[in-house]
Amino acid sequence: KDRVQVEKSAQKQWEDKQLNNAVQGSDYDTIKVEGSEEYEFVFDEQAFIEFSTEDGDSLSPGSNEEVALTELESRLEKETARLKSIHETRKSLPVYQYRDDLLNAVKEHQIMIVVGETGSGKTTQLPQYLVEDGYTQHGKLQVACTQPRRVAATSVATRVADEMGVMLGKEVGYSIRFEDKTTPGTTFLKYMTDGMLLREFMIDPELTNYACIMIDEAHERTLATDILLGLLKDILPHRKDLKLIISSATMNAVKFSEFFYGAPIFNVPGRRFPVDIHYTLQPEANYINAAITTVFQIHTTQSVPGDILVFLTGQEEIESAQQSIEEIAHVLGDKIRPLIIAPIYANLPQDQQSKIFQRTPEGCRKVVLATNIAETSLTINGINFVIDPGFVKENSYVAASGMSQLLTVPCSRASVDQRAGRAGRVGPGKCFRLFTKWSYFHELEPLPKPEILRVNLSQVVLLLMSMGIRDLVNFPLLDKPSIPTLSKALENLYVLGALNSKGAITRLGHIMCDFPCEPQFGKVMHTAATHEKCKGVLEEAVTIVAMLHETSSVLVNSRQDANKSGIVGQVQSDHMLYLEIFNAWKDMDYSRSWCLDHKVQYKTMLRVRNIRDQLWRCCEKLGLAALNEAALDAGNPLQDVEARLTRSFIAGFPGNIAQLGSSGYRTMGRQTGGLTVNIHPSSVVFQMFRKESKKPTKHLLYQRLVLTSKEYMRDCIPIPRENWLHDMLPHLFAKGSK
Ligand code: CDP
Ligand code: MG
Repeated sequence: KDRVQVEKSAQKQWEDKQLNNAVQGSDYDTIKVEGSEEYEFVFDEQAFIEFSTEDGDSLSPGSNEEVALTELESRLEKETARLKSIHETRKSLPVYQYRDDLLNAVKEHQIMIVVGETGSGKTTQLPQYLVEDGYTQHGKLQVACTQPRRVAATSVATRVADEMGVMLGKEVGYSIRFEDKTTPGTTFLKYMTDGMLLREFMIDPELTNYACIMIDEAHERTLATDILLGLLKDILPHRKDLKLIISSATMNAVKFSEFFYGAPIFNVPGRRFPVDIHYTLQPEANYINAAITTVFQIHTTQSVPGDILVFLTGQEEIESAQQSIEEIAHVLGDKIRPLIIAPIYANLPQDQQSKIFQRTPEGCRKVVLATNIAETSLTINGINFVIDPGFVKENSYVAASGMSQLLTVPCSRASVDQRAGRAGRVGPGKCFRLFTKWSYFHELEPLPKPEILRVNLSQVVLLLMSMGIRDLVNFPLLDKPSIPTLSKALENLYVLGALNSKGAITRLGHIMCDFPCEPQFGKVMHTAATHEKCKGVLEEAVTIVAMLHETSSVLVNSRQDANKSGIVGQVQSDHMLYLEIFNAWKDMDYSRSWCLDHKVQYKTMLRVRNIRDQLWRCCEKLGLAALNEAALDAGNPLQDVEARLTRSFIAGFPGNIAQLGSSGYRTMGRQTGGLTVNIHPSSVVFQMFRKESKKPTKHLLYQRLVLTSKEYMRDCIPIPRENWLHDMLPHLFAKGSK
């Protein structure tokens, strides 16, 4: 083989590839031949090969050069095949048939609602069609597609970048909180969480950079999606050139159309095979065990190949189910065919997410353990069996008591029907519901309750007010929150100091808005930098806030007993534990091996570090870092760091304080008289009060309430002195209050 011949062949394959799917600037790795560093073959975008040999151009058979060329050729072949198959797959999706009709409809109407079966190609294809149709004006403008979930935004962006043959983060990117994988000026197709678009509204209320916005998964009715629809309704009349596509599962479509003055509904008929529904005869007491049993029943009795999708409510359930299934499979050994367990939940590190999309090898069966995320936002191919316990974890807020709880509640009928549909994409499927038929017809609500009707609205109210929207009652919304919920939100913001007594947003309120996190955390950081009795601990506060954003996945096994395997010395609160873990890691130069040794998730810690850096930059921009610095300069080493931090958190979370009574801790809801709550066993405070017989403090601050078998407080910090409450929250706690 000589050089010319190889070049020709490469050129030819390159051209074929261009034909199959226009690939611009696809970057090939340098091919290194084992045992030889010298010969590097680079296939670059000009489509020729550069190579060097010691003795000229001719290659002797069996030489390193020849091996490298063969490898190069086989890689090219594979790449061409891959691109061909992507192209075919794109053409085979149900939306493809309607491509022209869809584009015509977009041309004609400013607002359109697209309804279609999950997996029909709405999320991955529609934005690409818009790009292909020239809406971005050669990359000058952007097309955005919002997702309620981070995992969906990242995974779809990865897929689409792949389909378009570009690098993720360049032409196609994603933007989720604390992670911006886009390149300004280059990215023209952007997948993002609905919350991120909401933030962009704050910076640019006219969304001038965008040509088209697709609000995807609108039927999920997340808080951010609902607010976005309201804001868009506001600006569309004077942004005539901005196109809005709302895409939704069938439920709710009419409601969206009515909201937007009767906007047309475009239906993409999907293919769907029949799904047999099976119910249990009795209610199941333990749905996780029931789900695991069902997995093995299916695996051992159903001869048809086909993967299993199990809907669970969260990471902990998924981890525990995965462990049980693996143990049972291990015991059964080669009596059963191999099972591949693939978990998927919001906090799953990105490199592990791809497992759910990988083709199941012949003779094996894949079991996908998923949260609600697999209900509509992610399409997993090859599923024939769905196991549905019928539960979902939902945030729920009771305005009267001012309390937010994460509750495991029964799904709606619309949701369980969506879930069942996941079994019928590749062929006839089966869905095993772990509840009774009676329950389906008589107990389940018809539709899920929109988030806006069940969450604390403080953050959103503050955001709207910072954008100058004063008349909250008349702000256009699909479902209006009740007046008591709104007034409670205003009251909370007043207590935090974000609003003044006239209801106008304060300087502190604006600062809280500028932080990319809940206003309460903004208040904590502001207090840690500026309050007379706290200042000087901003850096520590930022670290803790960053850790609190990821606590559920810091430790390798979230169920592991959390005195957290002697990572750090004695600490008095979870907050201090998080601080110590981070600092210990930082002292070891952020090393990977330290994480391995201490069973801490390295990837999570990298995310924490990234969040921390961003929060810190925000503190610098807002001038808080300088104020903090001044406090540090003033004296000797800072005294009472822990007390200062505890005080800062009290200032930020006045609603999260529990008081010790005769029957344990109770929340301090003023109207309800409180709810009995327990310290979660994984908390270091639990260990401290129980095992070391240290006297429980009269007050305790918690970050989250979780309801499982009991009401649990997670991430706790004891308040050793009562007067701290008065110091930090004088309007709520009288001096010497009991
Ligand atoms: O949005 P919709 O549910 O209508 O479909 P989609 O998410 O655009 O998915 C279209 C196709 O792309 C499905 O067959 C998915 O399995 C596939 N896909 C994939 O293979 N990997 C992803 N990360 C996302 C989608
Ligand atoms: Mg979709």
